[in-house]
Amino acid sequence: MSSAGQSGTESATAEHPKAYPPPEEFAASAVATADLYDEADADRLAFWAKQARALQWDTDFTDTLDWSNAPFAKWFVGGKLNVAANCLDRHVEAGNGDRVAIHWVGEPGDTRDLTYAQLLAEVSKAANYIGELGLTAGDRVAIYMPMVPEAIVAILACARLGLPHSVVFAGFSAAALRSRVDDAEAKLVITTDGQFRRGKPAPLKSAVDEALGTGEDAAKSVEHVLVVKRTDHDPDLNWVQGRDLWWHETVGQASDQHSYTAFDAEHPLFLLYTSGTTGKPKGILHTSGGYLTQIAYTFKNVFDHRPETDVFWCGADIGWVTGHSYLVYGPLSNGATEIVYEGTPNSPNEHRHFEIIEKYKVTTYYVAPTLIRTFMKWGREIPDAHDLTSLRLLGSVGEPINPEAWRWYRTVIGADRCPIVDTWWQTETGAMMISPLPGVTHAKPGSAMRPLPGISAKIVDDDANPVAPGEQGYLVLDQPWPSMLRGVWGDDDRFRDTYWSRFAAQGWYFAGDGARYDEDGALWVLGRIDDVMNVSGHRISTSEVESALVGHSGVAEAAVIGAADETTGQGIVAFVILRSGVEDRGDELIDELKAHVSKDISPIAKPREIIVVPELPKTRSGKIMRRLLKDVAEGRELGDTSTLVDPTVFENIRRRNG
Ligand code: PRX
Repeated sequence: MSSAGQSGTESATAEHPKAYPPPEEFAASAVATADLYDEADADRLAFWAKQARALQWDTDFTDTLDWSNAPFAKWFVGGKLNVAANCLDRHVEAGNGDRVAIHWVGEPGDTRDLTYAQLLAEVSKAANYIGELGLTAGDRVAIYMPMVPEAIVAILACARLGLPHSVVFAGFSAAALRSRVDDAEAKLVITTDGQFRRGKPAPLKSAVDEALGTGEDAAKSVEHVLVVKRTDHDPDLNWVQGRDLWWHETVGQASDQHSYTAFDAEHPLFLLYTSGTTGKPKGILHTSGGYLTQIAYTFKNVFDHRPETDVFWCGADIGWVTGHSYLVYGPLSNGATEIVYEGTPNSPNEHRHFEIIEKYKVTTYYVAPTLIRTFMKWGREIPDAHDLTSLRLLGSVGEPINPEAWRWYRTVIGADRCPIVDTWWQTETGAMMISPLPGVTHAKPGSAMRPLPGISAKIVDDDANPVAPGEQGYLVLDQPWPSMLRGVWGDDDRFRDTYWSRFAAQGWYFAGDGARYDEDGALWVLGRIDDVMNVSGHRISTSEVESALVGHSGVAEAAVIGAADETTGQGIVAFVILRSGVEDRGDELIDELKAHVSKDISPIAKPREIIVVPELPKTRSGKIMRRLLKDVAEGRELGDTSTLVDPTVFENIRRRNG
């Protein structure tokens, strides 16, 4: 369970009301009103068909939902559309070509603005050239790029050509990239020469070279690597003739006119790999019509979006689902003007985000609780030094937000005038599922409140019975939804097992989160109930980190848990047993192991703490007792140790843990 401080039980005071109604002025002109719930309740499928028809279809659909082959859904059956045309051409044709789509801010401070017409031209060039490379609809493309405009251009060019993209976070290691490239059998990899980190260029293409290998070890599926010049810092950049192509020499020279083809509503749009309980990351598959419908609908209603006046900013990286849905497809399908920022919040200093809000008059700001807690740590004098009066709505995503951080966000960043939308969803759900509507909901700090209109969720016990208010249960989605995942790439069994087997008799989707309703019917998401950790809003599985650790020659066995962490929600704590004969070199070894995990997976998976132990606590059936390790890592009294083979193990672990 996440421990970022969910209460849901605290009592109201004058200073801390239980719930915050929307400001009157906001409610009076809100995009989404309470009728939306009634409309969706009256006829859920008609409601979704209406949302879908807000998009541009080249061929209308005949059926809203075909659930006859559950859990494999088909939404908007028979419909054809082009996702990129919905994000670009449609707005240009409507006369909004001069509207800024993207205010891009580079890490070192360089900037670039792209209007809808310019973005369409760039995407057309990329589509023309990628088409020339011989890729055809259905071929996969891996995108391994920092937050440069070309990353969004590449994503949309893929969508335009019907090439499912697999964006791999540029902070992931070469090994992580390789496994994703292989699993998806990507034909093309798009990357940059380097990326900026804290004002300095760092290599990126070298990781692609390492990932793709050479000779016998070469990734078989990859024919080309398309390289955007971003840092231009390495005169000796490795270049594989015949495979590697400069973007500016190829895409840059292509025609900016491209006529699109419409694809089936169920044509695959993208794969996004995410951590599960066991095994390697899964390629979550999303398709076109249903995904775009729910993304466009949630963006408009949850963010109360006004295309003429709003400036939206989603702080997520394109490597995560939040970046896909609310940095690319949501804003652009709505014709929004948005910020895309390349760097970290403290480069060059902690004022960066607030300077951007002030400069571009950002109205809507959407980030993860971990960042809000970081801002709290830095102190309110930083945001207070800036004019943030353009803000009118704040959003939170990725992990439970503790009430204290929620209130700070509302008071310090939102000056007590901006509603907060705490949005619960997952890579698998594709779009927001549970969230306040900003002009309607009396939001409680820390609660995602209730399913959005058109969405249905339940909290149930092991036997699928609804739990009473105040009691904790499993969060399930009991009705299919348009942007639901359509499968796990290449592994239908894993799709069924992971999400649909827990409540197979009922046909419900098992989210993997614990939750409870309070006495007022507000829904509180409590965090993962499986072995998935949530570190700064990033999903990392314990088994992934364990297998990285045992991949080190000195480690015989490893057990990893997510321990409560004030800033990051959870922090990774690893217990390792060394191989016999391996000397415990203290901090030197610990640092080496941390660096090993960082290289094998990503710096985000680097353990906060590694504790060398002589033994791990195991049950008689050989299962590692993670619950007890969590107690140790969080400094609690030990829980029930009666099922352990050898309870004295803990004496040794505690001694080591100091
Ligand atoms: O545990 C929930 C948590 O993040 C998980 C999904 O992670 P991921 O697929 O990486 O997607 C994150 C961005 C949508 C969920 O199972 N989570 C996400 N949003 C919230 C949340 N937990 C509580 N409140 C939220 N608003």
